[in-house]
This record gives sequence, C-alpha cells and structure tokens, in this order.
Amino acid sequence: MTEEFSKAYWEDRYHGHTAGHGRPPNPHLVAETSALTPGTALDAGCGEGAEAIWLAARGWQVTAVDIAESALRHARSHAQAAGETVAGRIEWRRADLSGWTPPAQRYDLVCSHYVHPAASRESLAARLAAAVAPGGTLLIVGHHPSDRRPGVSDAAVRDVHFTADEVAAVLDPDQWEIVAAESRHRPATGPDGHGDHGHHGHGHTLHDTVLRARRLP
Ligand SMILES: C[S@@+](CC[C@H](N)C(=O)[O-])C[C@H]1O[C@@H](n2cnc3c(N)ncnc32)[C@H](O)[C@@H]1O
Repeated sequence: MTEEFSKAYWEDRYHGHTAGHGRPPNPHLVAETSALTPGTALDAGCGEGAEAIWLAARGWQVTAVDIAESALRHARSHAQAAGETVAGRIEWRRADLSGWTPPAQRYDLVCSHYVHPAASRESLAARLAAAVAPGGTLLIVGHHPSDRRPGVSDAAVRDVHFTADEVAAVLDPDQWEIVAAESRHRPATGPDGHGDHGHHGHGHTLHDTVLRARRLP
C-alpha cells in the first residue's frame, strides 16, 4: 500500500473530525438501489457510514467494512443517532480490503464507493463480485480518470481513478449482466466534500465511474 493511502492516512483523516453526520448518501447508490428489495448488503470501505445507515433505514441488513477504526467509531455513533432499529441492522467490521475475502455469494447487494487499496483494485473488484448472491447486485462507484489532476503521474493514481469497463472486465459475461457501466456527473460538495478527497471545492463538477451489474440467478 502506498504511503498516501495507508491505514494511518485514513485513521488520521477521520480522527477527531466527522463529515459523515447528516450528509446524504451517495447519489449513485440511491439511484441504483432504491428500487431493489432490501436483503443483505455489504458496504466495502464504508467510511463514516452514510451509505450503510441509509441502506439500513430502508430495511437492508448491512455489513459495513473499513480499515479505519476512527471512521467506524464515527459511523457507529451516527447509526445510534439514527435509532436502535437502524443501528441494529448494521454490523461494523474493521478489515483491510487489500486482503479480506467476504463470504462467497452471500449478499444481495455489494457496494463500494471511492475505495482503492493500492495494487489491489482488480483483485478487490473480483473478491467483492464473488460475494454477490445469485440474482444480487454489484455496485462499484469510483473516481473517473477524467478527474485526474494535471501533473500527477498515471502510476500514482492508477488505483484511484478507473473506468467502469475496467471493473466490468473482471466479471464473467456468462454469470453477469452489466446493468450500467458509465461515467456520471456529480457536483462537488465542498473543500472536503463527499468522495472528492478535498481536491475540489464548490462549483466543480466531478466525474464518477458507476458500474452496476447483476449476477445471473
Ligand atoms: C474516499 S473514502 C470513501 C468512504 C465512503 N465509501 C464514502 O463514499 O464516503 C475511502 C474509504 O476506504 C477506506 N479504506 C481505504 N483503504 C482501505 C483498505 N485497504 N481496507 C478497508 N478500507 C479501506 C478508508 O478508510 C475510507 O473510509
């Protein structure tokens, strides 16, 4: 793992600060999953839990995983604030997604937003895909390469920025239906806005990669 995105980096980012309370869930998650029947869900790299809490409030039984204990601490407290019912539907787990393998074909929904452990992007996508139950949904949201900042070498951000087609390449076409594989716009939410690493402020448009796929029953 690179120095920039080590566990210490993420612990430090969340330590003593919270941006997750009250922030709306990721718009791509809302758009892609609102019509699904709630079941079991895995949120990989859940941060402070806005997406896990939104899913739980809609009736999903959620496993939410992150490497940063400080993020999970904030997430637990946000979930408690959302009420016992919501909090009771979420299992928070600390794990390093670079190596963690979720149970095979276990979840009706596996989602991940802006998570990019160095040198394991394809491997992570494959492990997350393997955790989707027959008929279930895989949703991977990330930063599109068109948002790469000038002057940053391709190698340094290879794992951070990726296209939906690059993710879809790990899926066996005999087992998966690609529902959406595209780049979508999203307004930046502020200097430390949602998912933008603080590189962009208000007024910018961000470009996200959205891959939604369904494991054939
Ligand atoms: C850019 S944040 C995104 C958080 C959240 N999904 C969101 O959309 O706001 C990336 C998250 O991935 C987590 N993360 C980074 N590397 C990880 C790893 N190797 N294993 C587990 N979580 C990791 C970080 O702690 C952080 O919470």
